[in-house]
Amino acid sequence: MYSKVITNPRFLVFTRSYINLTSPRNQVTNHHLHHPSRTRAAAAATTTTMDPPGTTVVRNKQVVCKEAISSYPRASDLRIIDTSTTSLKVPQGQEALLVKNLYLSGDPHMRGSKFKNRPRLFSSGPDQPISGFGVSKVVDSGSPGFKAGDLIWGLTKWEEYTLLTSFANHVKIQHTDVPLSYYTGLLGMPGHTAYTGFYEVGRPKKGDYVFVSSAYGAVGQLVGQLAKLMGCYVVGSAGSKEKIELLKNKLGFDDAFNYKEEDMDAALKRCFPEGIDIFFDNVGGKTLDAALPHMRSHGRIAACGMLSQYDLEQPDGIFNITSLLLNRLQMKGFLVFEHMDLYPKFLDLVLPYVREGKIVYMEDIKEGLESSPAALESVFTGTSAGKVVIAVAPE
Ligand SMILES: NC(=O)c1ccc[n+]([C@@H]2O[C@H](COP(=O)([O-])OP(=O)(O)OC[C@H]3O[C@@H](n4cnc5c(N)ncnc54)[C@H](OP(=O)(O)O)[C@@H]3O)[C@@H](O)[C@H]2O)c1
Repeated sequence: MYSKVITNPRFLVFTRSYINLTSPRNQVTNHHLHHPSRTRAAAAATTTTMDPPGTTVVRNKQVVCKEAISSYPRASDLRIIDTSTTSLKVPQGQEALLVKNLYLSGDPHMRGSKFKNRPRLFSSGPDQPISGFGVSKVVDSGSPGFKAGDLIWGLTKWEEYTLLTSFANHVKIQHTDVPLSYYTGLLGMPGHTAYTGFYEVGRPKKGDYVFVSSAYGAVGQLVGQLAKLMGCYVVGSAGSKEKIELLKNKLGFDDAFNYKEEDMDAALKRCFPEGIDIFFDNVGGKTLDAALPHMRSHGRIAACGMLSQYDLEQPDGIFNITSLLLNRLQMKGFLVFEHMDLYPKFLDLVLPYVREGKIVYMEDIKEGLESSPAALESVFTGTSAGKVVIAVAPE
């Protein structure tokens, strides 16, 4: 029932081998138990130890960015380090959560920036694990709101274990009858973004003509399917023949075009002879400019993202802005973090559709932290086969 692209067929093997308790990685050796004063550095060189008595200390693999970057991360900018260790207990008296990261999410906000005033969400410095959204399991809790075993999603670090000191916006996962990885995409931040932008900004009505850019992306996939469920006519743009086929044949879009091959103005004319009521824009720039003259009177533009602009020294100009006036359009930017109150409503709507198979989701799940440099790069090069997810540990 659930659509999942597992590009690495060894993923299933990986799941089993991860829980192989005979693997040296999972053993607490007697040697360590008898030497509680061993240093963490020494522990890192071997496997797992107890330090001090009652506290398990484990090796903690991390993904770090080699140096500050001013664009999106190439695989060569990232490296895996295996020299750090972590205690599996929250330090006494600290309001924090010690979590095991199960799935990590590759998202377009995970980039460096030329602009000094942009918050450094992605990397807090060289040799520090990079940050991003993920699904994690609480191993130890110093907060009354959480207990060991709870599953949560929210911002974490790209490493095996993370001590979360800030978790006010983390969401406790209540529904586990759907794939947990969905909480990185369909049921997590990108899905919530799709819902918020489409309903709050797009204000759809049955029969509306809807255009979605980067339609095969983590957000776009859901926007298109929500629009179809509303009885709208939906067209998406994406950057490869394979994505166009999947949009039409798997995700139920009425039509789709490859913005890299077809002139955008001609494609929009062909797909929307009556014009566009709602433009859910993930890319901005030339796509936004091309769509403006095709908007119908009182159309709505949900400015969700500007993917095509983030790395440009000189942003693309918008030449068709007069359409805003002539067609009495409303264009509104939004940030999903300001709409966390809508998350329960979003789940109430989407979960039943997911369970019934009326909403599907294409994921590209890669195995292990080692796969994350290439996986993260694929978010930006458009070479992923779906929402980019890194499976770090078994559920
Ligand atoms: N407003 C909010 O609160 C909020 C929250 C989350 C995300 N966002 C934004 O929403 C947008 C979509 O997010 P997402 O997670 O679903 O990302 P996404 O669409 O999955 O992003 C990756 C895809 O973007 C496309 N792309 C890359 N460079 C491009 C370019 N120069 N022009 C056009 N397309 C390009 C590629 O697909 P192709 O093969 O089709 O080129 C790539 O596969 C992003 O701009 C993101 O920053 C906003």
